[in-house]
Amino acid sequence: MKKLVCVILSLILCMSCACATATEANIPEVKWEHPLPLMEVQSDYTMLVNADHLLDKSFKPDPQVKVTGIKRATSAAVYMEKTAAEALKKMFAAAALVTEYNYVGADGKTKLAQYGEDGMVLYLKSGYRSYGTQATVYANYLDRNNGVDDGYVAKPGSSEHQSGLCADVLNADYAGRPTMTQDFKWTPEAQWMKENCAEFGFILRYTEEAEETTGIKFEPWHFRYVGESVAAYIMAKEITLEEYTEEINAALADYEERGGDSEEQIAYEFRKMNKPPETFVLDEYGEDGDAEVSLVF
Ligand code: DAL
Ligand code: ZN
Repeated sequence: MKKLVCVILSLILCMSCACATATEANIPEVKWEHPLPLMEVQSDYTMLVNADHLLDKSFKPDPQVKVTGIKRATSAAVYMEKTAAEALKKMFAAAALVTEYNYVGADGKTKLAQYGEDGMVLYLKSGYRSYGTQATVYANYLDRNNGVDDGYVAKPGSSEHQSGLCADVLNADYAGRPTMTQDFKWTPEAQWMKENCAEFGFILRYTEEAEETTGIKFEPWHFRYVGESVAAYIMAKEITLEEYTEEINAALADYEERGGDSEEQIAYEFRKMNKPPETFVLDEYGEDGDAEVSLVF
């Protein structure tokens, strides 16, 4: 009898525990299907800026900081959005720890770059540019290029530089030249940045393969901050920010159509971030008679 009471008591305890855990988990009824968390894809860091998605004349990054403590390829102060600037500094610091790097030279041969105690040194050429500055840069470029807009400089309003979320980064050799040229891609610095930028939340924004999609000529020096998960996704899939945006907009439209609740989903993602995986006691028992437990990720 005593044993039976014990079994009933533990069953009640176990069931109430299962109920409490299931309620706590509070998994949204409508599933967000995209592999990236909804909170990441809705982040301002992923904003698309191009000829079809213009920034207002008055748009300024907020918060904006002066980028200090790293080498620059310009005598002018460089400003960027704060999180992007911090991420850029981390990328420069990681490069400084590189002592050797295999890269492909312009002759197609693999070569080994070896660095001294300063490691691989990167130079920041340009960050935030106001609408007005971009207008000047664009006009100067047209003057130098016989009035031809061939997709190297974005029209004012359509430049990511106005967002403060991107940076033009060079090596010592190219930092000292009057213009940036695409053969920078044959340098170990350009190749290292392309390979490692996602770890710091950056993407190579204007690739050689995607000139038609981006409307901008290949720029091996232009890195755009989008956040680490999104950068890893874009770089691994080798897609443009335009294609990524299209994919996310489709996922959002589908989610909305299915009755998804963004607030509920984001709250759920926060809970998952802050807590260890939640457990559910299933209505199944193992060979030892113990209830099976499922982890909710
Ligand atoms: N050079 C890039 C496209 C800009 O002007 O924003
Ligand atoms: Zn740029």
